[in-house]
Amino acid sequence: MTEIKATNITWHDGHVGREDREGLLKQKGATIWFTGLSGCGKSTIAFTVEHALVQRGHLAYVLDGDNIRHGLNKNLGFSAADREENIRRIGEVTKLFADAGLFSLTSFISPYRKDRDQARKIHQDAGLTFIEVFVDVPIEICEQRDPKGLYQKARAALAAGKGMGFTGVDDPYEPPLDPEIVLANDKLTVEQAAAEVLNYLHTRGLARTE
Ligand code: ADX
Repeated sequence: MTEIKATNITWHDGHVGREDREGLLKQKGATIWFTGLSGCGKSTIAFTVEHALVQRGHLAYVLDGDNIRHGLNKNLGFSAADREENIRRIGEVTKLFADAGLFSLTSFISPYRKDRDQARKIHQDAGLTFIEVFVDVPIEICEQRDPKGLYQKARAALAAGKGMGFTGVDDPYEPPLDPEIVLANDKLTVEQAAAEVLNYLHTRGLARTE
């Protein structure tokens, strides 16, 4: 659903530019897109990076899959079409946030490569920074952790011949081919994982260290 449905609409520019907002906030907006299986630690890392950025005087905000599904995306489930729409909306919201000058951090499984690539494209077309972070944890480990008991539920559903379309069990996950950052999060503490992201932002000249 990328075509514009409405007719008779006209783009209207405001009087405040992106540079004005960047000057005000003393930062350049950027989207930091975490992707990975359920239970891989995306949200924990994203919230830790958000906290560290705010401590350094940056404005940062996490869009978390489970949280967003309580509000903006409460009308979406886990069918392929709904997951696509989930990610399309978040791609657009993060693009707005980045244009507003914020660091927006997303924590969604975002299982389909083409949807993540589309989110990247709309940022790049608008001259905005998009950083894909693959939180790479083998499914066996996510399943052992099973913080919400959902892998167990998904296996039981599958054994009962129903299936629940759970990512990694009976629904696909397509890992990124060329992400900016890969976090082997079965071998890192949350502090180490967050530090890798913060160092990367610093190296790109996007975030302060102190
Ligand atoms: S996404 O696939 O559309 O990107 P999203 O990140 O918003 O997913 O939501 C995933 C979270 O919803 C999981 O961490 C898990 O808690 C919950 N969930 C419930 N049902 C499913 C399912 N069928 N597949 C994956 N996650 C599910």
